[in-house]
Amino acid sequence: MSKEELAIRGQFLDIAEVADDPSALRLRHVKDGLLLVHNGLITWFGAWTDGKEKIPQSCPVHDLGDKIIVPGFIDTHIHFPQAEIIGSHGEQLLQWLENYAFPAEMRYGDEEYAFGMADFFIKELLKNGTTTAMVFCTVHPQSVDALFTAAEKKGMRLIAGKVLMDRNAPAGLLDTPESGYDESKALIEKWHKRGRLLYALTPRFAPTSTNEQLALAGKLKKEYPDIYLQTHLSENREEINWVRQLFPERQNYLDVYHHHGLTGKRSVFAHCIHVEDGEWDRLRTTDSAIAFCPTSNLFLGSGLFDLHRARKEKVKVGLATDVGGGTSFSMLQTANEAYKVLQLRQQNLSATEALYLATLGGARALCLDHLLGNFLPGKEADFIVLDPGATQLLSMRSQKTRTANELLFALMILGDDRAVVATYVNGHLVHKRQPETEPRR
Ligand code: GUN
Ligand code: ZN
Repeated sequence: MSKEELAIRGQFLDIAEVADDPSALRLRHVKDGLLLVHNGLITWFGAWTDGKEKIPQSCPVHDLGDKIIVPGFIDTHIHFPQAEIIGSHGEQLLQWLENYAFPAEMRYGDEEYAFGMADFFIKELLKNGTTTAMVFCTVHPQSVDALFTAAEKKGMRLIAGKVLMDRNAPAGLLDTPESGYDESKALIEKWHKRGRLLYALTPRFAPTSTNEQLALAGKLKKEYPDIYLQTHLSENREEINWVRQLFPERQNYLDVYHHHGLTGKRSVFAHCIHVEDGEWDRLRTTDSAIAFCPTSNLFLGSGLFDLHRARKEKVKVGLATDVGGGTSFSMLQTANEAYKVLQLRQQNLSATEALYLATLGGARALCLDHLLGNFLPGKEADFIVLDPGATQLLSMRSQKTRTANELLFALMILGDDRAVVATYVNGHLVHKRQPETEPRR
């Protein structure tokens, strides 16, 4: 038997694509299912009774009983250097950046520190069932080397980039238009499409880049048409006013990025809370995507994202933690807060749509849905095992649920990293939850 064969039996949940209507979502529940993997790719998925004859000889079957297997979560926006400031009390975006984010990011100029924190960060993602993320590093190229090195060791599909920032930040965190261009180019050459890794140009947000820097970012995007772009857009009123003052010649916030060629199908804009009509049009016509960051938007008091509008405008949306403005690495907890944000907007989020946002929807936002997001044969074998009995409360609630949909919803409201018993990346087990240790006295 090849070591690269894997057969998983259990209860599966994913979002199936509906052939003639990509906007229609269907929760697929295979109660006694089988997933076959060869060399990191899904080769077969369906009912156990239909597939058991297809299991290669001498390939052992991992029978996961009543555990629930879902595709690995996709976090479409998160900051690697901000893991250490998660849950820092105080004020709103711009003050929080000054007081916590910038001082923390200074530390990543130290290569040894960055490599140590990268291992912690990747472990935390996997522990929470996140198998792919789009990640901000810091202005220091060594922070990108550290993160990609840690992700590569686990075989993860990860998108990341060096922050571009040439004004309005502490001196130790600034580059210049030229150094930002040169360093980004060298990192693209080194990491983009190396194994499963992909590079994202990362201008932090309009207030911290000059027109010269944004123009050079646009030049890089032209030189490497298949790289990504990630940044922030319309998160906070004070931020938006600042952008208006800094770029009076532009129609609106998004126009600052669009003017420099930074919109497009691989461009992901985090937050998008206070988006104007013209910006919605442009997000749609450029096929750009939004990262919806509910825990961050509540924590920093930024506002309530309008998911119904995004759906109506046919703009792609993925779910995101935005750690450390966001307060949890867990995409289950992020879905929980997304549900509450949308309740406050009189928009009801179903468990099916929440799972979509955290898996296939995220994959679509990142243009990776041909590779990730559900159990379609041919896709990459990133999946996680959830335990509906992970805590006493969740166990009690799970036993009272009547449908797969209800069970999934209970997992999202009550679950977190304790509910993730195992994480598989590229067909390999990369995280196994340790049993609870005795409580300390
Ligand atoms: N806008 C610019 N930088 C940041 C950041 O680090 N976090 C958040 N939430 N918004 C930003
Ligand atoms: Zn962010």
